Amino acid sequence: MVKAIVLYNSRGGNTKQVAMKIAEGLGVECRNNKKIPDLKEYDLIVVGSWVIMGRISFAGARFLRKLRRKSIEGKKISLFFTSGGPDEIHPFTERKGNPRKIKEIMFETMEEILNKKNLVTILPDRYYCKGAIRLTKHGEVKDNVGHPTEEELAQAKTFGEQLKKQFETSG
Ligand SMILES: Cc1cc2nc3c(=O)[nH]c(=O)nc-3n(C[C@H](O)[C@H](O)[C@H](O)COP(=O)(O)O)c2cc1C
Repeated sequence: MVKAIVLYNSRGGNTKQVAMKIAEGLGVECRNNKKIPDLKEYDLIVVGSWVIMGRISFAGARFLRKLRRKSIEGKKISLFFTSGGPDEIHPFTERKGNPRKIKEIMFETMEEILNKKNLVTILPDRYYCKGAIRLTKHGEVKDNVGHPTEEELAQAKTFGEQLKKQFETSG
């Protein structure tokens, strides 16, 4: 059996929902950033966070830095995140003259933080759940309507199942 765990940080619950589905697919435990156990016994750590203002949330970045102090050396890590927008060029990056998609920004940042010292293997297997953000009349984020959808949650579960299968076959 694969020794894996799903860890996430979430403010509004979207990332938590996705994390729980991935964990269900893998058949393993799921914990938030406040309840991270010693990670020595795990082979695979699935890590999730979310987007704010076109980048990883501050709490998310803090959570990933905290993980670096939790015996992650030699582990395999799979990444996922949720966001409020589609995977299109993010307007902030366009304004700064360096147009980039949120998926690139997020996975790259997460990898940079977690693998700062080149101690872990970041797997190519990753999951991303887009959103449908609703803004207040002042342009502030109000909520993320309707996401994750049932379909996206089913995909998250499938993602977990595929990871499990992959680890079982590779030993
Ligand atoms: C203050 C705030 C700013 C956000 N900014 C962005 C953004 O720039 N781009 C984006 O795609 N999503 C943005 N989002 C949407 C969140 O990334 C999305 O709703 C995510 O699923 C939240 O995860 P959570 O429910 O686990 O906290 C923002 C959300 C909040 C609350």
